[in-house]
Amino acid sequence: MINNAMTLEEAIQQRRSVRGYKPDPIDQETLDSIFTSAQLSPSNCNVQPWQVLLATGEACQILKDKMHHAFMHGQNMNPDFSGLPKFEGNMRTRQVECAQALYGAMGIARDDKIARMKATARNYQFFDAPHVAFITMKKDFSPAIAVDVGMYAQTLMLLMTSHGIGSCAQASTAYYPDIVREFFELDNDMGILFGISFGYEDKTVDANQTRTTRAPLSQIIHHKK
Ligand SMILES: Cc1cc2nc3c(=O)[nH]c(=O)nc-3n(C[C@H](O)[C@H](O)[C@H](O)COP(=O)(O)O)c2cc1C
Repeated sequence: MINNAMTLEEAIQQRRSVRGYKPDPIDQETLDSIFTSAQLSPSNCNVQPWQVLLATGEACQILKDKMHHAFMHGQNMNPDFSGLPKFEGNMRTRQVECAQALYGAMGIARDDKIARMKATARNYQFFDAPHVAFITMKKDFSPAIAVDVGMYAQTLMLLMTSHGIGSCAQASTAYYPDIVREFFELDNDMGILFGISFGYEDKTVDANQTRTTRAPLSQIIHHKK
């Protein structure tokens, strides 16, 4: 049943990254409603530069198996777009706190490299989600167009929240783009920015106890009057 009686504010407050899912797929009517509304996202000149590769059921399982195999066998990562920079200052602090929140929830000690590796490997099983959506745009598009795609992705995830569906954006799933490209027969000029795993949250999974914080506005807003 579609339940989108939530206010936007409530959806923003409730959305968080979900890293453990029930196997139940989302019905087609709900998927159609969510992806139709997400199309209302704004973009430069309304070009709607995003292309979404959506895998469900067996397709999702095949991609999971291939990606997990690639990760566990140390296959070379070759993302289409450059990855994360070396963060410094406040951003480095937030990055460390984010990892501590996740590993803390999972009961993983800071120096337990094997447990951390296993936790990272969960990314490549899409945290058992029944669906994954790879968000793509043309490889030669600049950050000016990537912002359109980011807006689309957040709209999509908030819509999912409003329908009681959990999600996790995953840059990690863009590190083996050839697997996705081959599976979806994606043109070579298209690049994979990130995947979004989604489905109904399994609240018994430890990782889902993770709670992140946000910087105070004094670190973010530079307001002159
Ligand atoms: C573009 C993007 C990529 C991300 N990649 C990953 C990822 O690969 N693995 C992961 O577990 N979380 C990933 N995250 C989730 C962030 O860690 C998470 O959004 C952040 O810690 C804030 O927590 P919250 O989403 O629960 O509010 C990603 C988030 C974004 C927006």
